Amino acid sequence: MKKVITADDAQDAFSGFPVVLGTVASARDNIITLAMCHIFSFRPPLIGVGIGPRRFSHGLFRESRDFAVNIPNRSMLRAVEICGSKSGKNVDKFEAAGLTREKAERISAPLIAECPVNIECLKVKEVEAGDHTWFIGEVVAARKDESYDKAEMLLYWGEYRVIGDLVK
Ligand SMILES: Cc1cc2nc3c(=O)[nH]c(=O)nc-3n(C[C@H](O)[C@H](O)[C@H](O)COP(=O)(O)O)c2cc1C
Repeated sequence: MKKVITADDAQDAFSGFPVVLGTVASARDNIITLAMCHIFSFRPPLIGVGIGPRRFSHGLFRESRDFAVNIPNRSMLRAVEICGSKSGKNVDKFEAAGLTREKAERISAPLIAECPVNIECLKVKEVEAGDHTWFIGEVVAARKDESYDKAEMLLYWGEYRVIGDLVK
């Protein structure tokens, strides 16, 4: 039997969204932990990240022509939590989280060396959607560790998980 639930409970019913570390160039480059990240188009390849307007990163993503989406693995949970709780307004998150800046090929945003996947995006659109702005970028370069294993990727929705059984 199903019971009526609130909109909050409906959103809470999702199991988990991929955790990424968004990077953007600025006087002090910044990193923000994001669970709002989605593919918006295959051709052209578009990826979007949703950022709340009160975040320090929001202004940086707005001002910048590009950003990077870096996929961490489960061993990077501490760094994920630091980048998802401290503000780039007050701290250098590369330093605070012990992460290494790497120069990107096509964009000004720095990449995170420790992340097994780095995706370089040129911003093509900003979409206001309720309490988040979606910054959508075209993938212009990307790299992946040969040993990358999706099973090591973090998912988040209230709790951190990794993917489970292969169903098909
Ligand atoms: C697992 C996790 C996922 C998060 N997802 C988002 C998100 O999708 N969008 C967002 O605006 N903030 C998200 N946050 C919160 C920001 O990462 C956090 O507020 C951060 O400190 C903002 O940094 P800034 O002040 O340097 O912009 C998330 C935090 C965590 C821990």
